[in-house]
Amino acid sequence: MKKKTAPPPAGKGLRGRDFISIDDCSTKEITALLRLGAAMKANPKKYRRALDGKMMALIFEKPSLRTRTTFTVGMSQLGGDSILLTPADISLGKRESVYDVAKNLERMVDGIMIRTFAHAICTSMALNARIPVINGLTDHEHPCQAMADFLTIRECRKNLRALKLAYVGDGNNVAHSLMLIAAKLGATLFLGTPAAHKPDPAVMERAGALARDEGGAIHWSEDPAAAVRGADVVYTDTWASMGQEDEAEARRAVFTPYRVNRALFGLAKKDALFMHCLPAHRGEEVTDEVIDSPNSVVFVQAENRLHVQKAIMFELLRD
Ligand code: CP
Ligand code: NVA
Repeated sequence: MKKKTAPPPAGKGLRGRDFISIDDCSTKEITALLRLGAAMKANPKKYRRALDGKMMALIFEKPSLRTRTTFTVGMSQLGGDSILLTPADISLGKRESVYDVAKNLERMVDGIMIRTFAHAICTSMALNARIPVINGLTDHEHPCQAMADFLTIRECRKNLRALKLAYVGDGNNVAHSLMLIAAKLGATLFLGTPAAHKPDPAVMERAGALARDEGGAIHWSEDPAAAVRGADVVYTDTWASMGQEDEAEARRAVFTPYRVNRALFGLAKKDALFMHCLPAHRGEEVTDEVIDSPNSVVFVQAENRLHVQKAIMFELLRD
């Protein structure tokens, strides 16, 4: 078995590695991936044979528009192909164990993207498959989203280290990956979440330490206004993530003060960006007047999933 719990020493590149957490990559590696994503966006034709003949398995245990489309289109644009595996096909962990699926797929394809519930399923797939595994969202992290988010911010703002980002709402998977990437890139992130829905304390601690090393900071407050005041970027996500549908009603009451409406968004800088990973629940975590305003870059974020994931797949799967 090849594996692979910690990243190899810097300089070995990303070839053959997994992309499970933003914390799998150094600041230098993240910066290089963002640069390659931007180059692929600017000149897609140059990369159309980059992964000639390579095959990705795309495992989805939750629904998806953006992740499924961008991985499928991205692989095709790089000269490779992909196969979709849904619960109806493989019933991961029920019809067959994660270990057995990993040991089969490593003989058939060149890489695996997995969207699942428990983060441990994703790490177990990565540990057992001798091919790169990419996290397409778990309950704990959404690293490809965070990469697309920073590709988007990088297009709009020159100095990432001078940025003040605000994330308001649920301290969830998207918040975790955003905290880690903001910290690694030396930005300052203010989180505004209900006390009962703070991000995982281990991620808070890790992101805080990384931010201190890079000259940034991670702050938390229960007050959404304190988080948003003076921000360059205001980010939110759904109040009830996939798998939490039963809690949606109860969460609505707790999260209402965190809705990004004109009044809350108005506390940010005049030219602040509004960001959301999508799907958005219009009228809940964000109002139409904010998500449809000229400050909103939500569809650029969605497009940038394609470009940055092409960069990630290329670096992991290249010969
Ligand atoms: N943002 C995101 O991951 O979208 P999907 O759930 O549609 O893939
Ligand atoms: N936090 C959301 C993100 C969807 C892309 C969820 O996990 O459902």
